[in-house]
Amino acid sequence: MITIFENYEQMSEYTASLVAEEITNNPKSRLGLPTGSTPIGMYKNLIQFGLDWSNVETYNLDEYEGISHSHPESYHMYMNKNLFLHVNLKKENIHFPDDQYDKTISGFGGLDLTILGIGHNGHIAFNEPGSSVTSRTRKVKLTEETINANSRFFDSINEVPKKAFTMGMKTIRESKKIILIANGQDKWDILNECFNGELSKDRPASILQTHPNIQVFYAG
Ligand code: F6R
Repeated sequence: MITIFENYEQMSEYTASLVAEEITNNPKSRLGLPTGSTPIGMYKNLIQFGLDWSNVETYNLDEYEGISHSHPESYHMYMNKNLFLHVNLKKENIHFPDDQYDKTISGFGGLDLTILGIGHNGHIAFNEPGSSVTSRTRKVKLTEETINANSRFFDSINEVPKKAFTMGMKTIRESKKIILIANGQDKWDILNECFNGELSKDRPASILQTHPNIQVFYAG
């Protein structure tokens, strides 16, 4: 089930080509999008396609609570820097988790394609271990492990937000297609447990084993 790439660049190029194909086949694609270090190469490659994004809608997986959208480490700013400022997406077609998220997304029958990263504890978006498989968009407390992992982007650990808004497990599972990408040997064990092991709420990504259209990519 896990496709292994020779390196990060190849995985990023291939993932970008699949997203580009999705947009080409359906110019009104509704995409679920991640932040973090793993998708940066994918976004870089995707921009090069010069696609028409004017009818594409984007739905980010998560955003921190308690920092402004203009904070350099906010996911709004990350997305501007890595994608939004480089393509002709309409402002009104860009979405981040809010009270209407599930109503909107369920209203059109689920996202067309969602790209996910994975945390060392198996989290997807900010659905930490123990998250219910039926969870929807909500405010969550980040685990100590996630706060530590995120501290690499901040000057000190005290500045790392402790809470975030995340798309829920159920909303993610309702995406018609999912591509999960993982980079680095430190991600192998959790990836292997989640996709070659037993399904468990304690490893949120494992729940995706039963998704009808998921691809899992790894670069070591
Ligand atoms: C970010 C997100 C998170 C990350 C995960 C891996 O929007 O949804 O679940 O995908 O924490 O992050 P990186 O890629 O930085 O290892």
